[in-house]
Amino acid sequence: MLRNRQALIPYLLLVAALIGGVLWYESNKVPGLGRVVTTGQADVGGPFQLTDQSGKRVSDKDFRGRYMLIYFGYSFCPDVCPTTLAVMAQALEKLGDRSRQVAPILITIDPERDTPKVLEDYVKAFGPSFVGLTGSADEIKAVEKKYRVYAVKKPLEGGNYGMDHSSVIYLMGPDGKLVSFYDEAISPDDLAKELKSKI
Ligand code: NI
Repeated sequence: MLRNRQALIPYLLLVAALIGGVLWYESNKVPGLGRVVTTGQADVGGPFQLTDQSGKRVSDKDFRGRYMLIYFGYSFCPDVCPTTLAVMAQALEKLGDRSRQVAPILITIDPERDTPKVLEDYVKAFGPSFVGLTGSADEIKAVEKKYRVYAVKKPLEGGNYGMDHSSVIYLMGPDGKLVSFYDEAISPDDLAKELKSKI
C-alpha cells in the first residue's frame, strides 16, 4: 500500500515512457517503412550454391571473412532494382577503403533471362566489386526461400514479362549470418552510416 498517491505519478509517467520507448523501438523493426531495420538472430539467409557472372560456381562460403551486401533483383527491372543497386554502389563509395570488407551481390530472381553473360554486362555498371549470381530455377527458388524473398512473374503486353518482387538489402556478416536488413528507400548516406557502424 502506497502511503502517498502523488508519489505514484512520476512512476506511472516513467512506465508510460518506457512502454512508449519499447513500442517506438519495435516499430523501427517493421520492414518496409523506409527505416533501418536491425535484428539479432533472425531465421533469414543460409547456404547457397550459385553461378557468378564469370560462369564460376560459388557458394556462400566463398564470402566468409567478408560482409555480403545482398540484393535480390533482375537486370530487366526498369526502375527499383537499378536504383537500389546504385544506392549500394554509392554507399560503398562513401566507405572508402573499408568497402573492401563488403561484397556487394545481386542475386537474380529471373534466372531465365539473367545468364552469367547478361549479369556480367549488368553488374559492371555498378562497380568492379559487384558480384552477379544466377543459377537454375530450383537453385534460385531455394535461395529466395531462405531469404524470404517474394518474386513472381508478371506478364507484360507483347508477350514479355516483368517480375513482382520484394526489395530488401541484406547485410550478412563474415560468418554468413544476418546482421541487418534495409528497405530499398534507404539513402546512400544512411546506408553508408549503417555500414560504418556495423562492419
Ligand atoms: Ni526490380
